Amino acid sequence: MPLDQENFGYNPTVMDHFQNPRNSGDMENPSCIGLARNSDCGDLLKLYLRIEGDRIVDVKFKTYGCGAAIASSSKLTEMLIGRTLDDAAHIKNTDVAEALGGLPPHKIHCSVLAQQATAAALDDWSKRRA
Ligand code: FES
Repeated sequence: MPLDQENFGYNPTVMDHFQNPRNSGDMENPSCIGLARNSDCGDLLKLYLRIEGDRIVDVKFKTYGCGAAIASSSKLTEMLIGRTLDDAAHIKNTDVAEALGGLPPHKIHCSVLAQQATAAALDDWSKRRA
C-alpha cells in the first residue's frame, strides 16, 4: 500500500500533529473557552485560552474527532500562543491547513473547527469582560 494511503492521505506534518498533539489537555482557570462542533460529523473542539493584556499566552485543547481535526487543533494552539487577540481573530481555517502543509481536499472542512473555536473563545472573552 502506498505510504500516502497508509497515512489516510495526510502529509508527515499532519501525521506528526495527529499522533503527537501539542498543548492537548485541560487548563485550570482559563481566561475563556471556545467550543465548536461540526454539525455533519459531530466532531468537537474545546479550546482554552489564557490571556494577559491583549495577548494569548497559553492555549490548551481537547478534540473529539478525526485525525485532521486533531492535527488542526494542535497546529492552531502553536499559532495562537504569543498572538494578540486582534491577530488571533484573523486566523482562518485555510491558514491552519496551510501551516500544516495542506490537508487532503475532503478533509479541509475539518480545519474549520479551529477557526470556529477561536472565534467562540474570543467571543467568550468579550462577554466575560463586559
Ligand atoms: S471528519 Fe469531522 S472534523 Fe474531520
